[in-house]
Amino acid sequence: MQYGFTQHSALSTPSSALSTQHSALNTTKLLGWRSLTQQTVIVIVSLVLDLCFMKSIADAADSQGHLTNNPPVVLTSELGKVYRTGFWLNQKVVSLKSCSLQVYQGETFGLLGPNGAGKTTILKLLLGIIRPTSGRGLLLGKPIGDRTVKQRIGYLPENPYLYEYLTGWEFLQLAAGLFQIPQSVQRQRIPQLLELVGLSPAEARKKQLRRYSKGMLQRVGMAQALINEPDLVFLDEPMSGLDPLGRYQMREIILSLKAAGKTIFFNSHILSEVEQICDRIAILAQGELICSGSLDELLDSDNTYHVKGQGGDGEILKKWIPNLTFEPNGSWQGTIQEDYYDFLASLRLMGGQITTMNLSRQSLEEFFIQQIQKQNNSVN
Ligand SMILES: Nc1ncnc2c1ncn2[C@@H]1O[C@H](COP(=O)(O)OP(=O)(O)OP(=O)(O)O)[C@@H](O)[C@H]1O
Ligand SMILES: [Mg+2]
Repeated sequence: MQYGFTQHSALSTPSSALSTQHSALNTTKLLGWRSLTQQTVIVIVSLVLDLCFMKSIADAADSQGHLTNNPPVVLTSELGKVYRTGFWLNQKVVSLKSCSLQVYQGETFGLLGPNGAGKTTILKLLLGIIRPTSGRGLLLGKPIGDRTVKQRIGYLPENPYLYEYLTGWEFLQLAAGLFQIPQSVQRQRIPQLLELVGLSPAEARKKQLRRYSKGMLQRVGMAQALINEPDLVFLDEPMSGLDPLGRYQMREIILSLKAAGKTIFFNSHILSEVEQICDRIAILAQGELICSGSLDELLDSDNTYHVKGQGGDGEILKKWIPNLTFEPNGSWQGTIQEDYYDFLASLRLMGGQITTMNLSRQSLEEFFIQQIQKQNNSVN
């Protein structure tokens, strides 16, 4: 169970930390002072390496123009994952290649990419569910896998597997219990969360999860992800399986989390939603990060103008405006890129004129498809 696993690790922090210390003491007695010295050296070296790594990453973030007073809450440096498959584990599936990205405090960050691009792999790596093959990362300032950080994280998996025989309410109680949230707080928070995700608390008390629809399960999954009031929320395809109202509600929830200063990292295929919600995005294709930045930076980058005009020579106009279309009244329109000064000069010579010319921002969908096609062409 993905939920059980993640939250259990979050909860088990104190007891497992104690048992680690206990077994370390026993080992020390057995192996003596020489071994203790070796262990101390190893701990010091790994601490120094972690500090160097944090410093180098902070410098890299600074050099990209971000202020250190808004430190990245998610940071990866050349993170990579190769799965080994087959009976002898001798076949390799490269799921993620050298991925370096940053997500800053309070941002809503969207990770996009076609099926199999490696989006879920990044989330699983960041959450410590799988181990990286190469590279490193920091989450809320601590190395990936740090158990104390898990207390401050919420996670909605791609395919939530829930305990079918529990009611929605009982499932949320279970999740709250894993975070050691007191009963009195649970009694207030559970109905609030159910209402936030559009489920009836009365129904959630009676109905077992096996009787929930896909969209209802997704909503319970979202409530579960927020049960510990996390600072950083990971959502893998949060809109999946939701009806239009559900998507709208999910968008409102994400926006309200953002307004409360939370950082949201989510994967999605629904580009229109991403365009409305995200501050920054990154696109992954075949395990490679092909671009990242704010929507303004990425979508305005190709200087496209939408022009309308009349007159001029149709054949010459088509050379400037590949998607030229004519209206019944003889006026024409289309988009032009970059050489617009030359185009205007040429139009004047043809005796034509412009009626309107607007900088047109590409849609995220157009940009996404362009980037994926570019990547496919460069691979083939
Ligand atoms: N446990 C695994 N063993 C082997 N290969 C895996 C495993 N999990 C994922 N992969 C492979 O890693 C690649 C990336 O998978 P991932 O689930 O990260 O893609 P994704 O971008 O989330 O796709 P989708 O949009 O369909 O959810 C795929 O080629 C997939 O087959
Ligand atoms: Mg996925």
